[in-house]
Amino acid sequence: MTRPFTRLQLRMPGQRLIFLVLSGLTFLALVALSLLLTKGSRGTPRHGRESADDFIIKEVDPESIRNYLRHLTSRPHPGGTKAEEENAHWVADSWRALGLDEVHLVPYDVLLSYPKNNIPNLVRVLDAAGQAVWTSHGWQKPLYSPEESSPDVLPNFNAYSAPGNITGDVVYAYFGREKDFKQLEDLGVSVKGKIVLARYGEVFRANIAWAAEKRGAAGVILYTDPQQYAPLGEDAVYPNTVYMPASGVQAGTVLLADGDPLTPFYPSVESAYRLAEENSSVPKIPVQPVSYGDAREILRHMGGPEAPAEWRGGLDVTYRLGPGMAEAGWTLGLEVHTHNARATTYDVVGVIRGSEEPDRYVILGNHRDAWVFGGVDPSSGTAALLEVTRVLTSLKDQTGWRPRRSVVVCSWGSEEYGLVGSKEWAEQFGKQLMDRTVAYINVDLTIEGNYSLRTLSAPLLYDTVFEAAAKVPNPDAAEVAAGRPMVYDTWAARLPDGDHPGRPRVDLVGSGSDYRSFMHNLGVPVLDICYTYDPKVNVEPLYHTLYETFALVDELYDKGFGFQAALTRLWAIMAVDLADTQVLKFSLKEYSSFLADAQEELLQEYGDLISARNISMAYFKKAIEGFSQATDMFIDDLDHLDTSNVLAVRRVNDQLMMVERSFIDPRGLPDRPDYNHVVMAPSVSDSYSGTAFSGLSDALDGILDLEPSQQEERWVHFAQHLAAITHYINTAAKVLSDDLW
Ligand SMILES: *[C@@H]1O[C@H](CO)[C@@H](O)[C@H](O)[C@H]1NC(C)=O
Ligand SMILES: *[C@@H]1O[C@H](CO)[C@@H](O)[C@H](O)[C@H]1NC(C)=O
Ligand SMILES: *[C@@H]1O[C@H](CO)[C@@H](O)[C@H](O)[C@H]1NC(C)=O
Ligand SMILES: *[C@@H]1O[C@H](CO)[C@@H](O)[C@H](O)[C@H]1NC(C)=O
Repeated sequence: MTRPFTRLQLRMPGQRLIFLVLSGLTFLALVALSLLLTKGSRGTPRHGRESADDFIIKEVDPESIRNYLRHLTSRPHPGGTKAEEENAHWVADSWRALGLDEVHLVPYDVLLSYPKNNIPNLVRVLDAAGQAVWTSHGWQKPLYSPEESSPDVLPNFNAYSAPGNITGDVVYAYFGREKDFKQLEDLGVSVKGKIVLARYGEVFRANIAWAAEKRGAAGVILYTDPQQYAPLGEDAVYPNTVYMPASGVQAGTVLLADGDPLTPFYPSVESAYRLAEENSSVPKIPVQPVSYGDAREILRHMGGPEAPAEWRGGLDVTYRLGPGMAEAGWTLGLEVHTHNARATTYDVVGVIRGSEEPDRYVILGNHRDAWVFGGVDPSSGTAALLEVTRVLTSLKDQTGWRPRRSVVVCSWGSEEYGLVGSKEWAEQFGKQLMDRTVAYINVDLTIEGNYSLRTLSAPLLYDTVFEAAAKVPNPDAAEVAAGRPMVYDTWAARLPDGDHPGRPRVDLVGSGSDYRSFMHNLGVPVLDICYTYDPKVNVEPLYHTLYETFALVDELYDKGFGFQAALTRLWAIMAVDLADTQVLKFSLKEYSSFLADAQEELLQEYGDLISARNISMAYFKKAIEGFSQATDMFIDDLDHLDTSNVLAVRRVNDQLMMVERSFIDPRGLPDRPDYNHVVMAPSVSDSYSGTAFSGLSDALDGILDLEPSQQEERWVHFAQHLAAITHYINTAAKVLSDDLW
């Protein structure tokens, strides 16, 4: 692999020169400098912090990010391929060249999934004689950038689909949500033995595939309707806009579990026990994505009643439910060659060792694998991770700074398959990470729009992201001119939090990226940041397609790379803040109001149902009040903390770190043993989005529609889980005090 000509290489001789000059100075000057810096990070952190922030803001270089991105997007690099492995080595070599204290390449032998290279997966409309009257496209059509014609681009596929060649009747299932399948049942249309045609866009695609499989469907075809993906019409698409052209196909996994499917709960190391593939959670039916250009041809031929009005999409056809085609005897064929295969995927982990608490980690992560070029997802994030690392090492080399705690940078493998690299790593090192990790900050991609910053966050990190966003200059010139000079200002103005006027919105932590294991298994507070599009428009730009090229980012989203530079600054500033602040700045008050608000919402929705059942919420309420009092006392006591006493400082920091851990139930949520966090979890019907107390709301969701015996079972789950949550909230209050009792 050839390395691009990057600032990274340009800087190397310069850094050595500075070092030589420095070593020529008097010993005293060095000692004075280091004393000043040490004092800065201990006694008067403000001075040290401000100068580190200024350094970061100046040093982050849009051109450097651009060079990293150009290199990373030069060819397809899906998980487990040669290209992913070579990129792993490239990241590791770059980090070694920058002088990180440690760089580890961590391989995992896991079950991944690929289409056949030269035999595409196809959908066919078959006439009564079984002859194909129409056949779908195996690949997406190159439209703009030369690399789109690369022979390494894989045929269209959904990872972990079963292979198969089936023929049958098609049924249209709208967004393929649980409620859509229920509506189909109510309309008297069964999907059993049928091929389900469903739209992407409302829930995680693996939830659609599973909802169809468990109802006995024979196969699934997923497509992107122009209503969600090309709202300005089929002419206003890539490469003229960021929207989906008619030939665009969204790739993605349809496995409804995270990590290597053969080694659930345990790391895929050499000694691992591996399940037989048929006993793992991989789908048992073929699932294949198609473009809206191809979906139009399927829909055009369909028979049966017209779909309900709101189920109609943006294609110029009559949307029908099926089952089957309008012409007698015609069917749909689905030929899928996607197959599972063992492969090695690589995490790259680098460390800037902490000066005072090297065994406390602030972890930054991004995944490296992309379905195709990954211009947006994830290579924009990989470019930012490389830039953060470059800037932190030059902060170290140029000013003598060293973080108080260790900063750990992680480049994950095979995230797209189901968070595989990060999940395996969190499984392998789970106990140590749970003991030592202060926070995890994820950037899956930096830019999927340039409208506003968007964050998902654990409540404990709200102040960290609010304060940092208020320090980063706004990359949006029009917004600056409108009197909003900082990233925070546009965020608060454009994505306001309805419940807290003047404040920006922060989303709950679901399981859409590599923060998942840290939050939901280890109880580490996490944050995820990116620049996003206007959610009010409710249109998703290009995602997981051939067209997320370097050009898309360079020519459409972010001319000049100013937004990506701002996001990189934000990431680096938060990393330094969390790594350097003597007493962790965790937002305890935010957590207690989060719990109180979530309780109120739960009672608004289900309060009557719960009281009709004579289940008391009193202990639960009392626990939340107790947590609030404990946080107030803890915060008051901090005023009297002797900050020169290292053991006392370590003690309060350990207590703070235990708060999120307290919410981890080793048995997991009811029927979901791989989700351990009782306060926040993705909802069962959509793994993308986070929900508060989802173990409770999932137990009661739709309960009145169930058979009496199933209702009983749900109430047992509810009551047991309520007691568990109450216990863990009490525990979270207790860990903030020095007493066991
Ligand atoms: C799959 O089925 C179709 C239609 O029944 C047929 O034309 C095609 O040859 C089959 N493909 C394979 C690989 O057997
Ligand atoms: C798969 O699981 C079933 C049921 O537990 C078991 O009987 C079977 O032996 C397993 N197959 C393999 C290959 O382990
Ligand atoms: C922001 O993104 C839109 C496309 O969504 C693009 O038209 C516009 O030029 C971008 N702005 C900048 C400053 O790059
Ligand atoms: C709840 O308690 C009331 C009063 O004791 C009783 O009449 C009712 O049957 C109880 N309901 C349930 C579901 O146990």
